[in-house]
Amino acid sequence: MNIAVFVSGRGSNMKAILDSEELRNKVKVSLVVSDKTDCKAFDTAEEYGIETVTVSAKEKKRCVSYSGLMDILESKNIELIVLAGFLKLIPVELVRKYKYKIINIHPALLPSFGGKGMYGMNVHKAVFESGAKVSGPTIHFIDEEYDKGWIIAQKAVDISDVTSPEEIAERVLNEEHKLLPFITGKMADGKITITDNRTYIEN
Ligand code: GRF
Repeated sequence: MNIAVFVSGRGSNMKAILDSEELRNKVKVSLVVSDKTDCKAFDTAEEYGIETVTVSAKEKKRCVSYSGLMDILESKNIELIVLAGFLKLIPVELVRKYKYKIINIHPALLPSFGGKGMYGMNVHKAVFESGAKVSGPTIHFIDEEYDKGWIIAQKAVDISDVTSPEEIAERVLNEEHKLLPFITGKMADGKITITDNRTYIEN
């Protein structure tokens, strides 16, 4: 299956997908998309010989529009889009065209600690300040609102003994790197099913 990974910065989750043994025969990362012209994830993509493209909602030099991006996705036969730290809202046309084919990883247990402004360290700070004893990644489908699509998978991480938001970030990220390749593989195998209001992961 050809997949596209959307990133905005570091790209450690993208790298976890690229380095996954389990995914080797299942998925091919055919495109890396960012809203930045320069980011660490692009350097990694280059090392792996993967084409990159920068997308912008406004007309900008060295960027494609979202409709241009949709043409590229189509020409590359992209069947799954993985948002791995992509910070921009996906336009509704793209969401509609790839219904149940766009997944996102969020670094907290939704539906708590999600929504506008809840990204990066903001999330971990909010979790820390709440005094919560567990956090962890959530993988969900994208729909027209931030962090609101059906939840596919979550992994609870014990944070009862942490002394900083940074410590939460590190523990959660470690689990993200396992959960995202796993669910990407399940998506590629067609093992994620959706019924009335829940998703199920088949063996
Ligand atoms: C991750 O914590 C992810 O959950 C969130 O953004 C971060 C991206 O990290 N959506 P990286 O770019 O994959 O290293």
